[in-house]
Amino acid sequence: MKLPILTAVLLGLVLTPALGENTQKMEVSKKVSIAGGYQLMTINKYWLVASIEQRTHQGSWKTLWNYDTGFMATRVLPEKACYISIMNRTEMPSFDALPQLAAESRNQNRPRPPAKEILFTLIKRNVRDLESYGPDTFSMCRGLTTYVAYEVHGPQFSLGSCIRLDVLQYLALTYCHDNNYA
Ligand SMILES: *[C@@H]1O[C@H](CO)[C@@H](O)[C@H](O)[C@H]1NC(C)=O
Repeated sequence: MKLPILTAVLLGLVLTPALGENTQKMEVSKKVSIAGGYQLMTINKYWLVASIEQRTHQGSWKTLWNYDTGFMATRVLPEKACYISIMNRTEMPSFDALPQLAAESRNQNRPRPPAKEILFTLIKRNVRDLESYGPDTFSMCRGLTTYVAYEVHGPQFSLGSCIRLDVLQYLALTYCHDNNYA
């Protein structure tokens, strides 16, 4: 009588590690050394999500790019803030190009300025439906001050203080407070 249960338990033991192994294989990380610390890129091919995290003596930030939902979110720790925006697929590197970017950044002997820059203005907003941006963004931004970041082009006259994040020495994400909405 106990045999079917035992079989089920054994099957479960065999299947669970196999499943875990598979989802882990879908995730790759690459570490790039930078002055005073490092950047760590993690790509999850199953969820189509990439994250780049910088840790240095000066502080740390993390940016999450969800190629499935088309949203990106950036957490800046000294500020205890999270910036959520629409990912402009014209300007962002493609998902498949990300490993190559990390490899190029790693092979760079001396720091180089980012080839691209995206400029955002920040509007402080209580994002009530934080969960709808996905579990990664939710757990990263929960409890922090959330801002919605809008991409801007051309000369800006009302920008206040800015923070610029150099991602893999390729893409600068510049987030500026807007004096009109401070
Ligand atoms: C997306 O990027 C393109 C190319 O830079 C730009 O023309 C377009 O305005 C951007 N879209 C938004 C919503 O900012």
